[in-house]
Amino acid sequence: MNLNDPSLLRSRCYVGGHWVSAASGKFFPVVNPASGEEIARVPALAADEARQAIEAAASALPVWQKRTAEERAEFLKRWHRQILENREDLARIVTLENGKPFAEALGEVDYGAGFVDWFAGEALRAYGETIPSPWPGRRILTFKQPVGVCAAITPWNFPLAMLTRKCAAALAAGCTAVAKPAAETPLTALALAELAERAGIPAGVVNVITGPAEVLGTELATHPKVRKLSFTGSTRVGRLLMAQAAPTLKRLSLELGGNAPFLVFADADLKAALSGAMLAKFRNGGQSCVAANRFLVQKEVYEEFAAELAQRIAALKVGPGFEAGVQVGPLIHAKAVAKIEALIAEAVAQGAQVVTGGGRHLLGGNFFQPTLLKDVSPRMRIFAEEIFGPVAILTAFTDDEEAIALANASEYGLAAYFYTQDLKRALRVAEALECGMVGVNVGRVSTPVAPFGGIKQSGFGREGSKYGLEEYLEIKYLCLGVGEE
Ligand code: SIN
Repeated sequence: MNLNDPSLLRSRCYVGGHWVSAASGKFFPVVNPASGEEIARVPALAADEARQAIEAAASALPVWQKRTAEERAEFLKRWHRQILENREDLARIVTLENGKPFAEALGEVDYGAGFVDWFAGEALRAYGETIPSPWPGRRILTFKQPVGVCAAITPWNFPLAMLTRKCAAALAAGCTAVAKPAAETPLTALALAELAERAGIPAGVVNVITGPAEVLGTELATHPKVRKLSFTGSTRVGRLLMAQAAPTLKRLSLELGGNAPFLVFADADLKAALSGAMLAKFRNGGQSCVAANRFLVQKEVYEEFAAELAQRIAALKVGPGFEAGVQVGPLIHAKAVAKIEALIAEAVAQGAQVVTGGGRHLLGGNFFQPTLLKDVSPRMRIFAEEIFGPVAILTAFTDDEEAIALANASEYGLAAYFYTQDLKRALRVAEALECGMVGVNVGRVSTPVAPFGGIKQSGFGREGSKYGLEEYLEIKYLCLGVGEE
């Protein structure tokens, strides 16, 4: 695999400071989506082994939560340094198991490291407050205390950044964590555990387990010692985890599916809108919850936007992520290819036009042509569902009201983007859009310093920013008698 430090490639789980295999000897293969080749095998842990990881996190909790915020911040800073020192190797592992272009993988390492750095700072700012008391002889104070043992179930599309976004926040707050990465991309998570160990983070504070999603997910969602569950993934699985977590009343953060609209008003700077569209659509080959899913373009500029977008899409270089100049890697697996193929076929049968692309790439395997469909109607399934691939769809609108109605005609509410040069319109539209994040004249909103999260069927809770820390803290109110009432 050509790592500078081959010992970063771990193929055992990290539990209570030990590297462990499944007692059953069972494992599952990790496959390179660009070639179909097996890269490694990782343990398929059983439910009782997930419980051991939860117990390890519970044992580590009392000491970790008593550390000063400064000490916890120092551990996080060391982890951050380890990640940056191993930036290239981590990016290689990400590209190998996820398929994204190497330049994007490097970007993900920086983005993911940014969460560790950010929460090292936020650890110091878990402030409580004093509240004016209605009683003369009492004082009212609030404290912030860690929630307890946290579970982090992370997706394959950003295998590094989604783990640090959850675990760094948990650790900063004084919680301990058990992370379960997606089966497609466990190696990045295990490399992060190796670096946490090298950073001196005490045994049991971070644990990484791999194995069948239903078995481990159920254990994490139902175990009474897990007090908080943070999940990034599909709405279907989010609902299931929420139901499983209900009997033990866990705190939840659910970052689920998206169907981001990308609106282009006739007064937009079209060049800027085109650049923003390419970024919002093709980052990670469209395999992102915040990817632009539906391009809604005002009639006056519809044909021009479609023609120029088609040119840019047709010029994208598709290939294995390690090849120089590649901008779009493979899809994660054959199922994703089949789903996108079916969505396109159905839309075309209902009247959508293929402007460029439209099918599997000549490279074969999981490669798909970057595609533009125009004249997509809101009645089509491709308009309603999260595409999660390199396919842009265009629908025309007449005025602001129609644009807003079309944008909001989705059960999801994660991100939205729009381009206009009219300040009044910018505020009006931003306020009317039903979503958690809005990009105005930008094609990317994600950063560790801003709250990431959605509404409606995109879930709830916020990650990153000062709000991301709050998700791992409880408020304790103290009523202090200080004299005669
Ligand atoms: C996601 O797609 O799940 C996360 C993307 C991001 O953080 O920008």
